[in-house]
This record gives sequence, C-alpha cells and structure tokens, in this order.
Amino acid sequence: MFLKGLECSSCGLQHDWSRLQNLCRFCQKPLLAVIDLAGVRKLDGFKPSSLLARTKSLWRYREVLPLPRDVEPISLGEGGTPLVPARKIHGGFDLWIKDESLNPTQSFKARGMSVAVSMAKYLGAIKLAVPSAGNAGGALAAYAARAGLEAHIFMPRDTPRANIVECRELGAEVTLIDGLITDCGAEIARRKTKEGWFDMSTLKEPYRIEGKKTLGYELAEQCDWQLPDVILYPTGGGTGLIGMWKAFDEMEALGWIGKKRPRMFSVQATGCAPIVRAFKAGEKNATEFPDAHTIASGLRVPKAIGDFLMLDILRRSNGGAVAVEDEEMMQTARDVGSKEGLFVCPEGAACFAALKSLSSAGKIASGERVIIFNTGSGIKYLDAYDA
Ligand SMILES: Cc1ncc(COP(=O)(O)O)c(C=O)c1O
Ligand SMILES: [Zn+2]
Repeated sequence: MFLKGLECSSCGLQHDWSRLQNLCRFCQKPLLAVIDLAGVRKLDGFKPSSLLARTKSLWRYREVLPLPRDVEPISLGEGGTPLVPARKIHGGFDLWIKDESLNPTQSFKARGMSVAVSMAKYLGAIKLAVPSAGNAGGALAAYAARAGLEAHIFMPRDTPRANIVECRELGAEVTLIDGLITDCGAEIARRKTKEGWFDMSTLKEPYRIEGKKTLGYELAEQCDWQLPDVILYPTGGGTGLIGMWKAFDEMEALGWIGKKRPRMFSVQATGCAPIVRAFKAGEKNATEFPDAHTIASGLRVPKAIGDFLMLDILRRSNGGAVAVEDEEMMQTARDVGSKEGLFVCPEGAACFAALKSLSSAGKIASGERVIIFNTGSGIKYLDAYDA
C-alpha cells in the first residue's frame, strides 16, 4: 500500500492513518490522505497503458487508494461509469455527460462509501453513522450490509422517499430528523461516543474523498489523459470537486497528465447557495445559508466543512459558481431526458441549466470541451418529478 499518512488540509499537521479518526486533532479541519506518489511512479505495472486490462471498477486505481494490498475491498462494482456525448443539447460546446447514475445504489456516493467502508472495517469500526441528504445514506447502507457492519443513518424528514425506503431495505437503522442535514450531523456528534458509532460524514472522515477522487482518474482516462476545458459539478458538501482536484494533482505527480487544469464550476440551487454567495463576495469561507430549501436534496447543504477547499479550487482553476432556480432545474431535466435519453437527478439537471447561463454570460467559448456530472438517477426523485 502507498498510503503514507493523513495531513490536515488547513494546518498541515500529520496524522497516523492506522487508526480510526475524523478531523484534525489540532484545528478540527478535514484530513486528506497522502499517497507515496514517487513510490507509485516507479511501479511498472501501474501506468496509463496497463490500466486497460484491469477491472472496470474504481479499484483499478488501487495503487493510489488506501487499503493494504492483501485486504479485500468492500465492492459492489462501483465506478467505471460511461462518459456520454451530448447529441442535441450541446449548445455548440463539445459537451459530455459523466453518468454516475450507473453506480451501485444509483449515485456517485457509492464511490466514496466503497473506499471509506473498506477502510473503516479494516481499522475495526463496527457501527457506522452518517447524516445524509439521501444518496449517501443509501450507499452507506449498501456497503455496510456488504461488510457486515451496522449503518445508522440520519436524514431530514423531507428526504426523497426512495432513499428512505432503500436504506431500510438494506438493513440500516434510519432516523428522520425535523431539520436539515446539518441538524442530522449535530445529532450524530451528540450521540456517537455513547453509541460507539464511527462518524462517516462528508469530509469528517478521510477516505470518502479517496473514492470520489477516482472521478478525476476515470475522467482523465476516458479523455485520453487530456483534461477537459470546463467541469460543471453539483456541489453540496463538495467531496466530488475536492476529490477530483486531488486526483489531478496526483496524476501530474505521476507524470500521467500535464499542468493544464479544467475551469471548475460549482453548481448550487438559489435556495441554498452558500458557495456561490461566498465566491461572489470574495470570501475564503462560506457562512451558513439561512432558510436552506431546494428540491435537489443533495444540494440542501447550508454549511460545508470543506468550504475553504472548494472556494480555493474554484479560484485557482479560474472557474466559478452558479446558482439555479428549482423550476429551471426541473424543466431542464425533462429537456435532457427527452433529447438525450438520460433520466437525470435534479442536481445533474442543475448543471445543464448552469451551462446555459454560463454560455449566455460568455464564460465558455464555443467548441470548448465541457463535462457535466450527472451525479445520480432521476428515479430516486419520483416524488419531485411527479409533483
Ligand atoms: C445526486 C447528488 N448530487 C450531488 C450531491 C452533492 O455532493 P457533494 O456533497 O459531494 O458535494 C449529492 C449529495 O448528497 C447528491 O446526492
Ligand atoms: Zn489542522
């Protein structure tokens, strides 16, 4: 294994990887895995050309993922999702859709949970707890079941019904909270020591992001190691965005890609847009968004612990942040569905709507290669689409 340790994303303090832990013990910010990339680079068997013969799942990038080599990952076939060219709604761009709805439990959350549950089990956790907008809960429930661990899932009462039913049928203990995902997180924080739960919250656990970074490896591989010009990503807690950026840096250190980075755009809902607001105000951190509401439950995250990391990436990449109205999201979903044959989640639909506004604002030139992440399936949101 090439995992060297964990490093605080804010103060840089080093932490040992070999025990279960959450945030930096000094400043309470997220910990990121440090991979021995110089060591990986020396391997003959791990090069872009050798990947083709490997498993389609995200574990094809095993050398840059945590988990000792002799430990079997908890896997349901996550990753290896298609990159589909847009045929009709491209608007003059070289537009591609990374369709994450084909993952186990129908969302990109499976990537993070496969890696995080594998590590949690290896490090001795027995009871896992997570606050979830819906899809992360479903993914944790599935991987915990597969691993023989307990899953305790806290979701807002207005989470899409499909997510709630899915978690229960996968054997998780589900608690519905009258509040937002932040209230769910607070409830876990209050009870976890007494209950013996390991907290699997976004970025409060160091390995979900390692699973999410495979979005970046996979995208580079599918684009023949030339990163696109622009990425549009629906952002709640931000692990996808932060994970991909980490992957780009790692791949450059491995000599797999050059210095070019895509312009990264965070897409949020106007009813809950803390990152958009902070980006526009030139702030380094995002304050809690009041009265957070949107039909895109995955974007109903009023305060994210990785806010400073996201804002830094958006600025360093020369990208930005866009907010989309719910009504526009829902209309766009039908447009994408009827023209491209993909039943996208509202979060994915938001990115297509954001592309239109970035295009009108002249932020993207025609012919540029643009990637939109459809992070989940519309099937989970029947109550919203049928309303
Ligand atoms: C479908 C979907 N898209 C996007 C997001 C936001 O993801 P992240 O929290 O990694 O920013 C979520 C989170 O729940 C989601 O379920
Ligand atoms: Zn720190």
